[in-house]
Amino acid sequence: MKKLLSAALAACMLLLCTACGASSPKSPETENGPPMSETGNVLIAYFSCTGTTKGVAEQIEAKTDGTLYEIVPQIPYTEADLDYYSGGRADKEQADPSARPAISGSVENMDKYKFVFLGYPIWHSQAPKIIYTFLESYDFSGKTIIPFCTSESSGIGSSATNLHSLVSGATWLDGRRFPSGTSQSTVDEWVDSLGLKFTPDVSAFDLESGKNGHAPTVTLNSGYEMPILGLGTYSLTGETCKASVKAALDSGVRLIDTAHMYGNEREIGEAIRESNVPREEIFVITKIYPGEQYSHPEEAIQEALDKLNIGYIDMMLLHHPGANDVKAYQAMEKAVADGKIRSLGLSNWYIEEIDDFIAQVDIMPALVQNEIHPYYQEQAVVPYMHNLGIVVQAWYPFGGRGHTGELLGDETIVKIAEAHGVTAAQVILRWHLQRGVVAIPGSSNPDHILENISVFGFSLTSEEMNEIAALDRNEKHDWY
Ligand SMILES: Cc1cc2nc3c(=O)[nH]c(=O)nc-3n(C[C@H](O)[C@H](O)[C@H](O)COP(=O)(O)O)c2cc1C
Repeated sequence: MKKLLSAALAACMLLLCTACGASSPKSPETENGPPMSETGNVLIAYFSCTGTTKGVAEQIEAKTDGTLYEIVPQIPYTEADLDYYSGGRADKEQADPSARPAISGSVENMDKYKFVFLGYPIWHSQAPKIIYTFLESYDFSGKTIIPFCTSESSGIGSSATNLHSLVSGATWLDGRRFPSGTSQSTVDEWVDSLGLKFTPDVSAFDLESGKNGHAPTVTLNSGYEMPILGLGTYSLTGETCKASVKAALDSGVRLIDTAHMYGNEREIGEAIRESNVPREEIFVITKIYPGEQYSHPEEAIQEALDKLNIGYIDMMLLHHPGANDVKAYQAMEKAVADGKIRSLGLSNWYIEEIDDFIAQVDIMPALVQNEIHPYYQEQAVVPYMHNLGIVVQAWYPFGGRGHTGELLGDETIVKIAEAHGVTAAQVILRWHLQRGVVAIPGSSNPDHILENISVFGFSLTSEEMNEIAALDRNEKHDWY
């Protein structure tokens, strides 16, 4: 996994200390088969001096696709330090209740992890004191912690309960001890037995928590939250684009979708910087395009960062399949590791292409953005992506250019709108959300923008959802 958080540091430690098993990033290819994709909300934090705990941590990583983090001591343990019952450093620390050996480096974005596997060797029947340092360094509220340990012969015993007392507000699961030489299948069975669901459910949204002008969010498989309604900016340029983004932010919209192809990233960045809304409250999606950009993806990514000029990019998509798409995605994965992009996804990707693509990349796409509207519902694609833990987002949610009038005038939709005292556009957006599809309607009209984020005062009945489902004509309005 490329995202071994302490990789650079660990490489230095390896030079310093052979006893305290520092590691280098491992290849995404594993004995378990195809390359893995990372699950954004699982952290596997471990301390290991002679590699046994590290081995189990890597097996948990292989099973969960989580992110490995090695707890690296600021002062490495030498072989003499680890010589137990010699009165050496490890013995002394274990006997000293106040010992808290310092840790080098830290977990980036601890907030995004919901599950923390915590691994350590047993030292005199307890966890090494550096684990105490680790637990006291972060807020674990709302997280689930799963301890595991390795030892010569001792069980996990009171080591885990003593650690538990350091943490408040977390769900603490029973731990498990593993001997050296533990097999992958033993670890797999243990993880399965925990009954945890690591992939967030992206097929349904918490619409109850939405208010007009305030869309709820969905948790992406990268661990980040994304609003379920946004502003599409295709065909908005120059001052019109800026004014539209500002109107959207004023109305409460917090998701803005752009692309290199739209030629408006600079204006969108300006509008965001000039607004009163804090950067971190806004989720920005952009895309790079096949051709020159996929051939030189590092430059394309840098161009997007420079034009937007808002620090990081929340989500970057490949605009559609094309030559070098895997290469381009791998460059985006590197940008994620470098903290320049947070989440990755694909646009105009369908069932035929997705499995093949996933097998070639490391980070599971968090989002697929496709043409979806009542006349082109992608009834197979939507559940297929959801089953993979991928959020589905609709461009052309009202049918797209040249077809919007027809959709907004569709008699079934108009009838449902009249029954709820809302507009046809609001019915269509509500339909998207109730079937678990995020929508990014485009508009430069402030009234429409406000209307589009005001779909939380009513809900469609299952009969109405079925009536709209019956409008599907498998009628695509664009070529992608
Ligand atoms: C200071 C120290 C104390 C230890 N105390 C115990 C112990 O009480 N019981 C036990 O079974 N193993 C004990 N061990 C052995 C380790 O728990 C065991 O080798 C472990 O798997 C090492 O993990 P690592 O390779 O990830 O560092 C101790 C090792 C050290 C260095």
